[in-house]
Amino acid sequence: MTDAKPKLFPAQFVWGSATSSYQIEGACNEDGRGPSIWDTFCRQPGAIYRAANGDVAADHYHRWREDIALMAELGLKAYRFSVAWPRILPEGTGRVNPAGLDFYDRLVDGLLEQGIDPYLTLYHWDLPQALEDRGGWPARQIVDAFVEYATVVGRRLGDRVRHWTTHNEPICTSLLGYFWGIHAPGIQNPAAAMAAAYHVILSHGAAVRALRAVLPAGDQLGITINLTPAYPATDTDADREAAHRYDTFINRLFLDPVLLGSYPAEVLDLFAMLGLGVSAEDLQIMSTPLDFLGINYYTRAVLRHDPSVLFLQADEVKPVGNEYSQMWEIYPQGLYDLLTRVWREYGPAQPHLRLFMTENGICVPDDVDYDQRVRDERRIRYVSAHLAQLWQAVQDGVPLDGYFLWSLLDNFEWSYGYRMRFGMVFTDFDTQERIVKDSGRWYAEVIRRNGLA
Ligand code: GCO
Repeated sequence: MTDAKPKLFPAQFVWGSATSSYQIEGACNEDGRGPSIWDTFCRQPGAIYRAANGDVAADHYHRWREDIALMAELGLKAYRFSVAWPRILPEGTGRVNPAGLDFYDRLVDGLLEQGIDPYLTLYHWDLPQALEDRGGWPARQIVDAFVEYATVVGRRLGDRVRHWTTHNEPICTSLLGYFWGIHAPGIQNPAAAMAAAYHVILSHGAAVRALRAVLPAGDQLGITINLTPAYPATDTDADREAAHRYDTFINRLFLDPVLLGSYPAEVLDLFAMLGLGVSAEDLQIMSTPLDFLGINYYTRAVLRHDPSVLFLQADEVKPVGNEYSQMWEIYPQGLYDLLTRVWREYGPAQPHLRLFMTENGICVPDDVDYDQRVRDERRIRYVSAHLAQLWQAVQDGVPLDGYFLWSLLDNFEWSYGYRMRFGMVFTDFDTQERIVKDSGRWYAEVIRRNGLA
């Protein structure tokens, strides 16, 4: 029996879409922008699929008016974007580049003119190379540099931007960048990675305090953490413990300091083993009160015990039976499990916290048909199934206030280069033409209806 009742969301539910600076802007050597670690990393042989880079990307730096018009055409209520630190402070600290601030000034004004609420992320991985040269995220001085950057942006845009996210996905900044080395700066050093994981969260808390001092009262501050619910491959103790360890080092390594002001015991043991100090004062800063937590969800992880894997002694398995995208298993139930777990385990310590789904989406091989349509039914099916889980979580009391589809348009997918398309708008990277996909039209209807038919 089909579930005929429409799934409508609360009246003020925020429907948006998300991008990030390095993935869409291009113009990497324009208007005083300094080099970032991704400009450097993309030139490392073998780092990026087909040696792609973000030099041009979706040329959003020049096409931002056209892209805002697309957002308005789709009826977006909000737009989640990130500011490129190297445009604002080309050397990372000190000299401010006025042209960099001017670009985001124009972007924010353009959004507000269309009634689209700007949701600003300060850091989505494009660290100024000059700061990496001075030690990067593993060096504690990065905290002061991030506070300086946050304050410059807060002073300029704080009169119009009401929603501020300090970091996007601290695990990518720290563990992908300094442990697995698959993201910039491409380093494989466990001690550096764990120091980076600590400093990213410390810089988050310090920046929240600094922003509270320069932003109007009532502005909403938060952080975006990507969470991957962990399931044991079999019901054995070994696999259950493997899933627990994965959850501890992939999810709680960031959730706990921010929302509880503490680290799991296994993390403290690892910090101690690596000679990294944890101070009570730092934990106080890390857990500075927030208004919202942004959650990015794409898929789950299924773990089996594997003693050969460093730290985790856990290895992911690929369950058979569910549909897969080009990158991950499609598992909508994981979103419900994740949201209700976060609220059950962290809600009591954070009764006033609001949640946003700051990213959710899928990459599928999109093609433009002869009639100039992109029939991305798989993306419609994915988003619909995940929105149904979101709706159920809201019905069950999870304080979720908005959903941002990843992504507005096809863009630079990090180490995958331009191979993976996540947009609800097709980007022709040869001509920079944009074509709204069927999923974009469908999402516009979801927004108009405020939910699923
Ligand atoms: C992330 C990043 C995005 C990615 C998207 C698809 O969540 O990894 O925020 O930049 O492009 O998630 O991988």
